[in-house]
Amino acid sequence: MAKIIDGKAVSAAVKEEVAAEAAKLKDEHGLKVGLAVVIVGSDPASRVYVNNKKKACEAVGFRSTEYALDENTTQEQLLDLVNVLNNDKAVNGILVQLPLPKHIDEKAVINAISPEKDVDAFHPVNVGRIMIGDYAFLPCTPAGVMRLIESTGVDITGKQCVVIGRSNIVGKPQAMLLLQKNGTVTVCHSRTKNLKEICLTADILVVAIGKAKFVTGDMIKEGAVVIDVGMDRDENGKLCGDVDFESAEKVAGYITPVPGGVGPMTIAMLMKNTLTAAKQQSGIE
Ligand code: GUN
Repeated sequence: MAKIIDGKAVSAAVKEEVAAEAAKLKDEHGLKVGLAVVIVGSDPASRVYVNNKKKACEAVGFRSTEYALDENTTQEQLLDLVNVLNNDKAVNGILVQLPLPKHIDEKAVINAISPEKDVDAFHPVNVGRIMIGDYAFLPCTPAGVMRLIESTGVDITGKQCVVIGRSNIVGKPQAMLLLQKNGTVTVCHSRTKNLKEICLTADILVVAIGKAKFVTGDMIKEGAVVIDVGMDRDENGKLCGDVDFESAEKVAGYITPVPGGVGPMTIAMLMKNTLTAAKQQSGIE
């Protein structure tokens, strides 16, 4: 039976580290770390995410400022706000919650955020920095996955790593991070032909395809580390991941549950990125 990777515990440890450093910045430099959170419209899922991000800021001692804009906000108005936040010294990190309403070009908005304040690491400059291994921030979910793998004590060097999913937010940066840690990386996606065979070679398997219980135990190598990035609903409407936990845990060496695996890590890493941004902007190491 697989050991369960406890994302709640690992994320709590990250947040504790961040809180301790934030307190030190305040005591020694009089600096209060600030995150601006922008939400446009009233998507209920986005509202929950934004509330959780604000709560996390409070828990680690950051100032969070919410900008809740109307659904009908124009792209120009949003770009104006981003520009104001780029120039506001009290704002160290800017997070524009996605998705944006259809009439707004997401790319234009991401490109407008100062790369130094882009705590999601979505700006092309930050994406490029990740590619060459010279980065300040990592996108929150793949960074959280790396931290979970690290928590198992399994060394990535020389291991067969398989990533299922090629999104800009998870799959692609995840592959780069595993490569930087000397893994031998294969990226699979919806057009991959021999998916099961490839999965069976994986010592480390990261699944981010958004299909409920897609990866089953017969696709997993004995003893593998299995990280499930999925947040899906099963046939009964119950929250589940991209991995069929029941069959997978019988074969894997380590596995993340859903919920309580990758989910809590994403916000913890956002806090870490915001702290890093504040330190960089004020020249503190
Ligand atoms: N929407 C869903 N996930 C994310 C995320 O990580 N960052 C932002 N900005 N929006 C999201």
